[in-house]
Amino acid sequence: MTENKKVVLSLVQPTGDLTIGNYLGAIQNFIKLQEKYECYIGIADLHSITVPQVPAELRRRTKSVLATYMALGLDPEKVALFVQSHNLDHLKLYWVLNTISYMGQLSRMTQFKEKSEKNEENKNAALFTYPVLMAADILVYNADFVPVGIDQKQHLELTRDLAIRFNSRYSDTFKIPEPIINESTRKIMSLKNPEKKMSKSDEDKSASIFLLDDPKSVKKKIMSAVTDSFMNFAYTEDQPGLKNLIDIHCSFSGESPESIVERYKGRGYGEFKKELAEVVSTFIEEFQEKYNEILKDDDRLEKILEEGLQKSLRKTRRMMDKVYRKVGFLQLGK
Ligand code: TYM
Repeated sequence: MTENKKVVLSLVQPTGDLTIGNYLGAIQNFIKLQEKYECYIGIADLHSITVPQVPAELRRRTKSVLATYMALGLDPEKVALFVQSHNLDHLKLYWVLNTISYMGQLSRMTQFKEKSEKNEENKNAALFTYPVLMAADILVYNADFVPVGIDQKQHLELTRDLAIRFNSRYSDTFKIPEPIINESTRKIMSLKNPEKKMSKSDEDKSASIFLLDDPKSVKKKIMSAVTDSFMNFAYTEDQPGLKNLIDIHCSFSGESPESIVERYKGRGYGEFKKELAEVVSTFIEEFQEKYNEILKDDDRLEKILEEGLQKSLRKTRRMMDKVYRKVGFLQLGK
Protein backbone atom coordinates (compact mmCIF):
# COMPACT_ATOMS: atom_id res chain seq x y z
CA MET A 1 0.00 0.00 0.00
CA THR A 2 1.54 3.30 -1.05
CA GLU A 3 1.46 6.37 1.16
CA ASN A 4 -0.09 8.84 -1.25
CA LYS A 5 -3.19 6.85 -2.15
CA LYS A 6 -6.51 8.17 -0.83
CA VAL A 7 -7.83 6.18 2.12
CA VAL A 8 -11.20 4.38 2.18
CA LEU A 9 -12.71 3.07 5.42
CA SER A 10 -15.99 1.36 6.24
CA LEU A 11 -17.39 -1.24 8.63
CA VAL A 12 -20.44 -3.50 8.84
CA GLN A 13 -21.97 -4.71 12.10
CA PRO A 14 -22.15 -8.48 12.68
CA THR A 15 -25.63 -8.16 14.17
CA GLY A 16 -27.39 -10.53 11.79
CA ASP A 17 -26.92 -12.26 8.48
CA LEU A 18 -26.20 -9.63 5.85
CA THR A 19 -28.92 -8.58 3.40
CA ILE A 20 -28.80 -7.53 -0.23
CA GLY A 21 -29.26 -3.99 1.20
CA ASN A 22 -25.83 -4.22 2.85
CA TYR A 23 -24.36 -5.52 -0.39
CA LEU A 24 -25.95 -3.06 -2.80
CA GLY A 25 -25.79 -0.04 -0.49
CA ALA A 26 -22.25 -0.46 0.81
CA ILE A 27 -20.21 -3.59 0.02
CA GLN A 28 -20.56 -3.23 -3.76
CA ASN A 29 -18.78 0.12 -3.44
CA PHE A 30 -16.04 -1.38 -1.23
CA ILE A 31 -15.33 -3.83 -4.05
CA LYS A 32 -15.10 -1.09 -6.69
CA LEU A 33 -12.94 1.15 -4.50
CA GLN A 34 -10.40 -1.57 -3.63
CA GLU A 35 -8.96 -1.30 -7.15
CA LYS A 36 -7.90 2.30 -6.73
CA TYR A 37 -7.52 3.21 -3.06
CA GLU A 38 -5.91 2.14 0.19
CA CYS A 39 -8.86 0.35 1.81
CA TYR A 40 -9.61 -0.65 5.40
CA ILE A 41 -12.81 -2.65 5.76
CA GLY A 42 -13.84 -3.80 9.22
CA ILE A 43 -16.36 -5.78 11.20
CA ALA A 44 -17.95 -3.58 13.86
CA ASP A 45 -18.26 -5.97 16.80
CA LEU A 46 -17.83 -3.15 19.36
CA HIS A 47 -20.86 -1.40 17.92
CA SER A 48 -22.87 -4.61 17.81
CA ILE A 49 -22.94 -5.07 21.60
CA THR A 50 -24.83 -1.79 22.07
CA VAL A 51 -27.83 -4.11 21.73
CA PRO A 52 -27.76 -7.50 23.51
CA GLN A 53 -26.04 -10.31 21.54
CA VAL A 54 -25.64 -14.04 22.16
CA PRO A 55 -21.83 -14.35 22.59
CA ALA A 56 -21.31 -17.58 20.61
CA GLU A 57 -23.55 -16.26 17.83
CA LEU A 58 -21.60 -13.01 17.71
CA ARG A 59 -18.32 -14.90 17.26
CA ARG A 60 -19.85 -17.03 14.50
CA ARG A 61 -21.29 -14.00 12.73
CA THR A 62 -18.00 -12.11 12.89
CA LYS A 63 -16.34 -14.86 10.81
CA SER A 64 -19.42 -15.08 8.63
CA VAL A 65 -19.13 -11.37 7.73
CA LEU A 66 -15.48 -11.91 6.81
CA ALA A 67 -16.35 -14.87 4.55
CA THR A 68 -19.21 -12.81 3.07
CA TYR A 69 -16.86 -9.93 2.24
CA MET A 70 -14.51 -12.31 0.47
CA ALA A 71 -17.19 -14.27 -1.37
CA LEU A 72 -18.64 -10.98 -2.66
CA GLY A 73 -15.26 -10.01 -4.05
CA LEU A 74 -13.14 -8.21 -1.45
CA ASP A 75 -9.55 -9.30 -1.94
CA PRO A 76 -7.46 -9.58 1.27
CA GLU A 77 -4.34 -8.90 -0.82
CA LYS A 78 -5.69 -5.46 -1.68
CA VAL A 79 -7.74 -4.58 1.40
CA ALA A 80 -7.02 -4.72 5.13
CA LEU A 81 -9.88 -6.80 6.56
CA PHE A 82 -10.05 -6.48 10.34
CA VAL A 83 -12.20 -6.88 13.44
CA GLN A 84 -12.84 -3.58 15.22
CA SER A 85 -12.26 -4.90 18.77
CA HIS A 86 -8.79 -6.17 17.78
CA ASN A 87 -7.41 -2.69 17.26
CA LEU A 88 -7.56 -0.69 20.50
CA ASP A 89 -6.67 2.55 18.72
CA HIS A 90 -10.35 2.86 17.78
CA LEU A 91 -11.23 2.98 21.49
CA LYS A 92 -8.42 5.38 22.35
CA LEU A 93 -9.62 7.92 19.82
CA TYR A 94 -13.23 7.27 20.85
CA TRP A 95 -12.42 8.49 24.36
CA VAL A 96 -10.69 11.64 23.14
CA LEU A 97 -13.56 12.45 20.75
CA ASN A 98 -16.09 11.96 23.55
CA THR A 99 -14.53 14.98 25.24
CA ILE A 100 -15.52 17.21 22.32
CA SER A 101 -18.94 15.60 21.61
CA TYR A 102 -21.96 17.50 22.80
CA MET A 103 -24.92 15.73 24.43
CA GLY A 104 -27.38 17.91 22.47
CA GLN A 105 -26.01 16.84 19.09
CA LEU A 106 -25.85 13.15 20.10
CA SER A 107 -29.44 13.19 21.30
CA ARG A 108 -30.55 14.34 17.85
CA MET A 109 -29.14 11.25 16.09
CA THR A 110 -32.12 9.50 14.49
CA GLN A 111 -30.65 6.00 14.85
CA PHE A 112 -30.28 6.47 18.60
CA LYS A 113 -33.86 7.71 18.86
CA GLU A 114 -35.21 4.77 16.84
CA LYS A 115 -33.20 2.06 18.60
CA SER A 116 -33.69 3.39 22.13
CA GLU A 117 -37.44 3.74 21.62
CA LYS A 118 -37.71 0.02 20.85
CA ASN A 119 -37.11 -0.90 24.50
CA GLU A 120 -35.83 0.57 27.76
CA GLU A 121 -32.87 -1.84 28.00
CA ASN A 122 -31.50 -0.37 24.77
CA LYS A 123 -31.09 3.06 26.35
CA ASN A 124 -27.48 2.51 27.39
CA ALA A 125 -24.61 4.99 27.35
CA ALA A 126 -22.76 3.08 24.61
CA LEU A 127 -25.74 3.32 22.26
CA PHE A 128 -25.83 7.05 22.98
CA THR A 129 -22.17 7.51 22.07
CA TYR A 130 -22.25 4.95 19.24
CA PRO A 131 -21.75 7.68 16.58
CA VAL A 132 -18.63 8.91 18.43
CA LEU A 133 -17.07 5.45 18.10
CA MET A 134 -18.02 5.48 14.44
CA ALA A 135 -16.28 8.86 14.07
CA ALA A 136 -13.21 7.38 15.77
CA ASP A 137 -13.28 4.40 13.36
CA ILE A 138 -13.08 6.81 10.46
CA LEU A 139 -10.73 9.48 11.78
CA VAL A 140 -8.15 7.10 13.28
CA TYR A 141 -7.35 6.04 9.66
CA ASN A 142 -7.50 9.66 8.46
CA ALA A 143 -9.95 8.37 5.84
CA ASP A 144 -10.81 10.41 2.75
CA PHE A 145 -13.86 8.39 1.69
CA VAL A 146 -16.49 6.40 3.57
CA PRO A 147 -18.78 4.24 1.40
CA VAL A 148 -22.12 3.77 3.20
CA GLY A 149 -25.89 3.63 2.71
CA ILE A 150 -27.91 6.80 3.27
CA ASP A 151 -28.91 5.74 6.84
CA GLN A 152 -25.32 6.47 7.96
CA LYS A 153 -25.18 9.98 6.47
CA GLN A 154 -26.09 11.75 9.71
CA HIS A 155 -23.29 9.89 11.52
CA LEU A 156 -20.88 11.01 8.79
CA GLU A 157 -21.95 14.61 9.34
CA LEU A 158 -21.18 14.26 13.04
CA THR A 159 -17.79 12.77 12.13
CA ARG A 160 -17.01 15.78 9.96
CA ASP A 161 -18.08 18.17 12.76
CA LEU A 162 -15.84 16.37 15.26
CA ALA A 163 -12.86 16.46 12.87
CA ILE A 164 -13.34 20.20 12.32
CA ARG A 165 -13.76 20.82 16.07
CA PHE A 166 -10.63 18.82 16.96
CA ASN A 167 -8.60 20.55 14.24
CA SER A 168 -9.62 23.99 15.43
CA ARG A 169 -8.95 23.20 19.10
CA TYR A 170 -5.65 21.33 18.71
CA SER A 171 -4.40 22.39 15.23
CA ASP A 172 -4.76 20.61 11.89
CA THR A 173 -4.85 16.83 12.45
CA PHE A 174 -7.69 15.09 10.58
CA LYS A 175 -8.85 15.23 6.99
CA ILE A 176 -12.58 15.90 6.65
CA PRO A 177 -14.00 12.63 5.28
CA GLU A 178 -16.57 12.41 2.47
CA PRO A 179 -19.34 9.81 2.29
CA ILE A 180 -19.67 7.78 -0.92
CA ILE A 181 -23.33 6.94 -1.48
CA ASN A 182 -24.82 5.24 -4.56
CA GLU A 183 -27.83 7.15 -5.79
CA SER A 184 -29.99 4.16 -6.82
CA THR A 185 -29.03 1.82 -3.97
CA ARG A 186 -28.63 4.34 -1.13
CA LYS A 187 -31.59 2.75 0.64
CA ILE A 188 -32.94 -0.65 -0.44
CA MET A 189 -36.42 -0.89 1.04
CA SER A 190 -38.24 -3.62 2.95
CA LEU A 191 -40.20 -6.04 0.73
CA LYS A 192 -43.15 -5.77 3.10
CA ASN A 193 -43.18 -2.04 3.71
CA PRO A 194 -41.56 0.08 1.00
CA GLU A 195 -41.49 3.08 3.36
CA LYS A 196 -39.00 1.26 5.60
CA LYS A 197 -35.33 0.31 5.08
CA MET A 198 -34.53 -3.37 4.43
CA SER A 199 -32.72 -4.36 7.62
CA LYS A 200 -30.77 -7.39 8.85
CA SER A 201 -32.47 -7.04 12.25
CA ASP A 202 -36.07 -6.85 10.96
CA GLU A 203 -38.19 -9.32 12.92
CA ASP A 204 -40.25 -10.13 9.84
CA LYS A 205 -37.75 -12.29 7.93
CA SER A 206 -39.88 -12.15 4.76
CA ALA A 207 -39.21 -8.40 4.52
CA SER A 208 -35.47 -8.81 3.82
CA ILE A 209 -33.46 -10.90 1.37
CA PHE A 210 -30.49 -12.36 3.22
CA LEU A 211 -27.40 -13.36 1.31
CA LEU A 212 -27.58 -16.71 3.11
CA ASP A 213 -31.27 -17.33 2.33
CA ASP A 214 -32.17 -20.53 0.57
CA PRO A 215 -32.56 -19.50 -3.14
CA LYS A 216 -36.07 -21.00 -3.21
CA SER A 217 -37.20 -18.78 -0.35
CA VAL A 218 -35.62 -15.77 -2.10
CA LYS A 219 -37.93 -16.43 -5.03
CA LYS A 220 -40.93 -16.71 -2.72
CA LYS A 221 -40.07 -13.47 -0.93
CA ILE A 222 -39.81 -11.60 -4.22
CA MET A 223 -43.05 -13.03 -5.59
CA SER A 224 -44.89 -11.89 -2.46
CA ALA A 225 -43.22 -8.48 -2.20
CA VAL A 226 -45.65 -5.60 -1.61
CA THR A 227 -46.19 -3.38 -4.68
CA ASP A 228 -49.40 -1.46 -5.43
CA SER A 229 -52.75 -1.84 -7.17
CA PHE A 230 -52.21 0.78 -9.92
CA MET A 231 -51.51 -1.89 -12.55
CA ASN A 232 -49.18 0.60 -14.19
CA PHE A 233 -45.60 -0.51 -14.82
CA ALA A 234 -43.56 2.64 -14.13
CA TYR A 235 -40.41 3.76 -12.32
CA THR A 236 -41.63 6.51 -10.01
CA GLU A 237 -41.49 7.62 -6.36
CA ASP A 238 -45.31 7.30 -6.30
CA GLN A 239 -44.94 3.51 -6.63
CA PRO A 240 -42.16 2.90 -4.07
CA GLY A 241 -42.61 -0.90 -3.86
CA LEU A 242 -42.22 -1.40 -7.60
CA LYS A 243 -39.45 1.21 -7.80
CA ASN A 244 -37.50 -0.67 -5.12
CA LEU A 245 -37.80 -3.93 -7.08
CA ILE A 246 -36.67 -2.21 -10.29
CA ASP A 247 -33.69 -0.69 -8.42
CA ILE A 248 -32.73 -4.15 -7.14
CA HIS A 249 -32.99 -5.61 -10.65
CA CYS A 250 -30.85 -2.85 -12.16
CA SER A 251 -28.10 -3.16 -9.62
CA PHE A 252 -27.80 -6.92 -10.13
CA SER A 253 -28.31 -7.00 -13.91
CA GLY A 254 -26.75 -3.69 -14.95
CA GLU A 255 -29.86 -2.89 -17.03
CA SER A 256 -31.29 0.66 -16.82
CA PRO A 257 -34.72 1.39 -15.23
CA GLU A 258 -35.89 2.86 -18.58
CA SER A 259 -35.07 -0.34 -20.42
CA ILE A 260 -36.92 -2.47 -17.84
CA VAL A 261 -39.98 -0.20 -18.01
CA GLU A 262 -39.87 -0.40 -21.81
CA ARG A 263 -39.82 -4.23 -21.71
CA TYR A 264 -42.60 -4.57 -19.13
CA LYS A 265 -44.93 -1.71 -20.09
CA GLY A 266 -48.51 -2.99 -20.28
CA ARG A 267 -47.63 -6.33 -18.65
CA GLY A 268 -48.44 -7.45 -15.10
CA TYR A 269 -46.05 -7.06 -12.17
CA GLY A 270 -46.01 -10.86 -11.75
CA GLU A 271 -43.97 -11.48 -14.89
CA PHE A 272 -41.40 -8.89 -13.83
CA LYS A 273 -41.19 -10.37 -10.34
CA LYS A 274 -40.53 -13.81 -11.86
CA GLU A 275 -37.58 -12.47 -13.84
CA LEU A 276 -36.26 -10.57 -10.81
CA ALA A 277 -36.58 -13.71 -8.66
CA GLU A 278 -34.43 -15.54 -11.19
CA VAL A 279 -31.79 -12.78 -11.34
CA VAL A 280 -31.45 -12.48 -7.53
CA SER A 281 -31.60 -16.19 -6.72
CA THR A 282 -28.92 -16.96 -9.34
CA PHE A 283 -26.67 -14.35 -7.76
CA ILE A 284 -27.33 -15.76 -4.30
CA GLU A 285 -26.66 -19.32 -5.38
CA GLU A 286 -23.30 -18.39 -6.90
CA PHE A 287 -22.42 -16.31 -3.84
CA GLN A 288 -23.22 -19.16 -1.45
CA GLU A 289 -21.04 -21.61 -3.32
CA LYS A 290 -18.04 -19.32 -2.80
CA TYR A 291 -19.04 -18.46 0.76
CA ASN A 292 -19.26 -22.11 1.85
CA GLU A 293 -15.90 -22.88 0.30
CA ILE A 294 -14.22 -19.91 2.05
CA LEU A 295 -15.77 -20.74 5.41
CA LYS A 296 -14.26 -24.25 5.38
CA ASP A 297 -10.72 -22.92 5.80
CA ASP A 298 -10.79 -21.48 9.30
CA ASP A 299 -6.98 -21.19 9.57
CA ARG A 300 -6.90 -19.03 6.47
CA LEU A 301 -9.65 -16.76 7.83
CA GLU A 302 -7.73 -16.24 11.08
CA LYS A 303 -4.56 -15.48 9.13
CA ILE A 304 -6.37 -12.90 7.01
CA LEU A 305 -7.67 -11.17 10.16
CA GLU A 306 -4.20 -11.21 11.70
CA GLU A 307 -2.68 -9.65 8.56
CA GLY A 308 -5.52 -7.16 8.35
CA LEU A 309 -4.94 -6.16 11.96
CA GLN A 310 -1.22 -5.58 11.37
CA LYS A 311 -1.96 -3.41 8.32
CA SER A 312 -4.56 -1.46 10.27
CA LEU A 313 -2.27 -0.96 13.28
CA ARG A 314 0.48 0.38 11.03
CA LYS A 315 -1.93 3.09 9.98
CA THR A 316 -3.65 3.91 13.28
CA ARG A 317 -0.66 3.86 15.67
CA ARG A 318 0.89 6.87 14.03
CA MET A 319 -2.37 8.78 14.21
CA MET A 320 -2.87 7.96 17.89
CA ASP A 321 0.67 9.07 18.73
CA LYS A 322 -0.10 12.38 17.10
CA VAL A 323 -3.47 12.76 18.84
CA TYR A 324 -2.07 11.90 22.29
CA ARG A 325 0.75 14.40 21.80
CA LYS A 326 -1.68 17.13 20.72
CA VAL A 327 -4.02 16.66 23.68
CA GLY A 328 -1.05 16.80 26.08
CA PHE A 329 -0.57 13.22 27.30
CA LEU A 330 2.92 12.44 28.57
CA GLN A 331 4.57 9.92 26.23
CA LEU A 332 7.57 8.10 27.68
CA GLY A 333 10.80 8.18 25.69
CA LYS A 334 9.58 10.93 23.34
P1 TYM B 1 -24.79 -1.56 9.31
O1 TYM B 1 -24.11 -2.77 9.80
O2 TYM B 1 -26.18 -1.28 9.78
O3 TYM B 1 -24.85 -1.60 7.73
C1 TYM B 1 -23.69 -1.80 6.95
C2 TYM B 1 -23.74 -0.94 5.71
O4 TYM B 1 -24.87 -1.30 4.90
C3 TYM B 1 -25.65 -0.14 4.61
N1 TYM B 1 -27.06 -0.55 4.55
C4 TYM B 1 -27.88 -0.30 3.52
N2 TYM B 1 -27.68 0.36 2.37
C5 TYM B 1 -28.73 0.44 1.51
N3 TYM B 1 -29.96 -0.11 1.77
C6 TYM B 1 -30.19 -0.77 2.93
N4 TYM B 1 -31.37 -1.31 3.17
C7 TYM B 1 -29.12 -0.89 3.87
N5 TYM B 1 -29.01 -1.48 5.09
C8 TYM B 1 -27.74 -1.25 5.50
C9 TYM B 1 -25.38 0.80 5.78
O5 TYM B 1 -25.67 2.14 5.43
C10 TYM B 1 -23.92 0.55 6.03
O6 TYM B 1 -23.11 1.32 5.16
N6 TYM B 1 -22.76 2.14 11.98
C11 TYM B 1 -22.56 1.28 10.83
C12 TYM B 1 -21.29 0.45 10.94
C13 TYM B 1 -20.06 1.27 11.15
C14 TYM B 1 -19.42 2.10 10.20
C15 TYM B 1 -18.28 2.63 10.88
C16 TYM B 1 -19.70 2.45 8.89
C17 TYM B 1 -19.33 1.30 12.30
N7 TYM B 1 -18.26 2.12 12.14
C18 TYM B 1 -17.42 3.52 10.22
C19 TYM B 1 -18.83 3.33 8.24
C20 TYM B 1 -17.70 3.86 8.91
C21 TYM B 1 -23.74 0.32 10.74
O7 TYM B 1 -24.42 0.07 11.68
O8 TYM B 1 -23.89 -0.28 9.52
